[in-house]
Amino acid sequence: MDFQPNNKSKNKKILDKEKVNPRVAMHSFHRYYGKLIPAIPAAFIKEFSSEGDLIFDPFSGSGTTAVESLKHNRNFMGIEINPLAKKIAEVKTYPLRNKIISELNEKLMYIIRNNDFEINESDFPYVQNRDHWFKDFVQRDLIIIKKSIDYLFDDDRGNEIVNKEQYRDFYYMTVSAILRNVSNADTMHVFPGISKRMRRLEAEGKIHIDVFSSFERAIKKRASYYNYYNSKCKAKILLDDSTTANLSKYKGKVKLIVTNPPYISSVRYIETLKLEMYWLEYITCSEDYSILAHKMLGNDRLQKKEYETVNYTPYAEINNAIKDMEQRDKKSAKIISEFFLSIEKVIENMSLVLQKGGKAVIKISDSKIKKTKIETGKLMTIIAENHGFKLYDVFLDKINDNSRSLLTARNTYSDIITNDYIIIWEKI
Ligand SMILES: C[S@@+](CC[C@H](N)C(=O)[O-])C[C@H]1O[C@@H](n2cnc3c(N)ncnc32)[C@H](O)[C@@H]1O
Repeated sequence: MDFQPNNKSKNKKILDKEKVNPRVAMHSFHRYYGKLIPAIPAAFIKEFSSEGDLIFDPFSGSGTTAVESLKHNRNFMGIEINPLAKKIAEVKTYPLRNKIISELNEKLMYIIRNNDFEINESDFPYVQNRDHWFKDFVQRDLIIIKKSIDYLFDDDRGNEIVNKEQYRDFYYMTVSAILRNVSNADTMHVFPGISKRMRRLEAEGKIHIDVFSSFERAIKKRASYYNYYNSKCKAKILLDDSTTANLSKYKGKVKLIVTNPPYISSVRYIETLKLEMYWLEYITCSEDYSILAHKMLGNDRLQKKEYETVNYTPYAEINNAIKDMEQRDKKSAKIISEFFLSIEKVIENMSLVLQKGGKAVIKISDSKIKKTKIETGKLMTIIAENHGFKLYDVFLDKINDNSRSLLTARNTYSDIITNDYIIIWEKI
């Protein structure tokens, strides 16, 4: 294997050309840390698959590859372990109709603005430090919105709406989408926190929160997003763990994989969305949080007893990195070894579902852990070559200037080296 980034790559040119095309508005439905830029799936779906083919993403997140698959008349299958992310991706790919949403919007806003719901303590969801994160009136307004959605879609009123659950999910996910904006947390930060900037704005009386108006604007705007595809293709997202999911029924059915796996450590995807997950009741107690955190690839919330024994992989080069780290920091060594042991299982699943000649396009960065660079993409490619893949192409993709805030976040929180690799494997 010659893992040298190819500066003259034809695929790099294809991607660069795709980047100037406009992206569909649906990608802006909900913020999500670690989103792919849509040009990556768009470029390679066009290059490596045909209409009607099945595209797969084992870490489907908020569904960027899913949306681009439908946009290009391909079917999509994804796996995601975070139930909120799964729901966001589903809502973005449901075949909802702009006109129906607009009609429902009017009814819903009428209910919200004319409500006389009684609010009890049992209506408040479990949110750790709830009063720290949300003002009293915001909490009450959010509960009124929730009650209004449930009222609109209850058995007496909602039954004549075709695909009632899907429309209801649209409203729930829009609540999720505006939640950070109506909370006390700084919207500029990746992780929720009440910054100096927010305190200053608050003291200067510059924070004006109007929950109902924010929600109304958000549902109107999102109604217009449902015009990006009209094909018979479908997206299916499984709530599962990619390391253990049983994909035997998809054996050989996938034409192309486009994915960006989690980083080796330090990016706590659920932490970035915890307010939304509390409010939408995907996390209902502190145990829920830690159970989910432990299932995530790259989890770094390890207790001492969990890293007493460090396991090795079948690959000398990966083991060298683990052993080198073990001498300096056992916990980090454990995180690295768990990452590669888990990713091997995902790669086995990728190999199982992919057709011969099919491509897997992976966006990944090197990581820096305790000042040591871990060449994640190269090491993953060593594993892939043991599971029926060959390296087809690899090139560097410069992070665009628009994602500066993300860049800062990546450096501050996860110490990730800012070179993104695009790696393409071919199934042999
Ligand atoms: C870099 S993000 C993918 C973002 C996605 N491409 C998008 O555009 O929104 C990685 C995703 O992997 C998910 N994940 C982590 N561990 C997982 C596992 N064991 N099985 C399935 N998904 C997992 C995380 O929840 C996260 O959504």
